[in-house]
Amino acid sequence: MASARNPTYLIVGRVFVGLGVGMASMTSLLYISEASPARIRGALVSTNGFLITGGQFLSNLINLAFTKAPGTWRWMLGVAALPALVQFVLMLLLPESPRWLYRKRREEEAGAILRKIYPATEVEGEIRALRESVEAEIREEGSSEKINLIKLLKTKTVRRGLIAGVGLQVFQQFVGINTVMYYSPTIVQLAGFASNQTALALSLVTSGLNALGSIVSIYFIDRTGRKKLLIISLCGVILSLGLLSAVFHETTSNSPSISRQETAHFAAYTCPDYASTSSTWDCMKCLKASSPDCGFCASAADKLFPGACLISNSTVKDMCHGENRLWYTRGCPSRFGWMALIGLALYIIFFSPGMGTVPWIVNSEIYPLRFRGVCGGIAATANWISNLIVAQSFLSLTEAIGTSWTFLIFGLISVVALFFVLMCVPETKGLPIEEVEKMLEKTAVRFRFWRKGADERKNSNVFQPAVKEPVLVAGFNVTWAPVTENGFSCTSLMKLMSQRAKFSLTNIDR
Ligand SMILES: *[C@@H]1O[C@H](CO)[C@@H](O)[C@H](O)[C@H]1NC(C)=O
Repeated sequence: MASARNPTYLIVGRVFVGLGVGMASMTSLLYISEASPARIRGALVSTNGFLITGGQFLSNLINLAFTKAPGTWRWMLGVAALPALVQFVLMLLLPESPRWLYRKRREEEAGAILRKIYPATEVEGEIRALRESVEAEIREEGSSEKINLIKLLKTKTVRRGLIAGVGLQVFQQFVGINTVMYYSPTIVQLAGFASNQTALALSLVTSGLNALGSIVSIYFIDRTGRKKLLIISLCGVILSLGLLSAVFHETTSNSPSISRQETAHFAAYTCPDYASTSSTWDCMKCLKASSPDCGFCASAADKLFPGACLISNSTVKDMCHGENRLWYTRGCPSRFGWMALIGLALYIIFFSPGMGTVPWIVNSEIYPLRFRGVCGGIAATANWISNLIVAQSFLSLTEAIGTSWTFLIFGLISVVALFFVLMCVPETKGLPIEEVEKMLEKTAVRFRFWRKGADERKNSNVFQPAVKEPVLVAGFNVTWAPVTENGFSCTSLMKLMSQRAKFSLTNIDR
């Protein structure tokens, strides 16, 4: 692509890059989840996520460096071959996935690799678990040769896994991350930073925050668990979207008006649509004018005062800036603009460690091993399709109902996502791969995610059948209900019961 002589080269190169990245994004997750101990599996998968977002941040930095170099985009594209080369060499040094080796009946090699990965005390158990699950897999395949979609959906564990995995991937896109990203230049203009360098600086800040969020995720993923992280993330996303929606509503309904005098100041560049009307305009109306597009040059005294509506191109923009005025093309100046900036920052900070990373982690561990490749692929495809749908539809959506309502709709979708996570996503934190399958077998809908609460409920179950009537123990009536209501533990209760029984018995004996 760096040496492309015409667009065809670029397209062909791009197709190969797409195939390579597509394969790598699923395979590396699969490899990490197969080769890492359950205890730190989540952290390793999120490290992968961090390296992706960190890589995006780095590539933005590098692009910034090359914007002034001759042959700009050739450098930007070509330099990406270097990390790929490094990765290729390092990949040769990685051990094969123990699971794959086992599958190919190379048990010795698999054992040797596992002994390197696990502490000596855990190796034997791990080898046993691996053998059992591979044998189950082989038995399963013996009964029917091919995995097809119908069969996947008929298998209870796979179906439940797919609902959680695919649902998470779809919601990852439908909470509107790319729309928020798309509007970030507008948001920054709203906040009153309307300079030339802003866009590039902005991409640095947003990708930086995104990378930061993935670091946060590495720390919390195996401590707090996937489900709790998703729930916190979604609550933050809902709040941020509400804030963005409110700020956009405020700015569009109260934008500065257009002044005839201010516009006359730049007479030669007056927006044609404005010149031909006699009605009073405000900034929003000016930005909506098209053929040619128009922009708002704020008053020199205060950006909230009436300003000029002018043709939007670089000459006019420079002229507006030349008079120490601010130039707006994507959003209008507003007193509350800075709050939109806070909304944007909060959105990214909350999205990135939860909804940004966890769907990939859950997808790398929720499916029964033998279906993991296929199901992970299905979920990744669902993610890309949702991405496409949101990207293709949101511009028409904002034109039809406005930015404020668009954010509100994404907010509502996030509320649905929250309920979806509460009900359909199991907590897979720290579970050995084989246990996840057993858990999916048991229940379809689960509300538990707050471990402490769940434990308390479990304990309270022990005391629940608070027996008010005397119970017959070894042929004697023992009344013990009042004791249980005072919060005795199960063991002390048992002790008490046996003492009483003994006491009664000895009494009788006596
Ligand atoms: C911007 O528009 C003005 C007025 O139509 C025109 O004179 C000027 O050449 C344009 N500048 C550019 C860079 O297109």
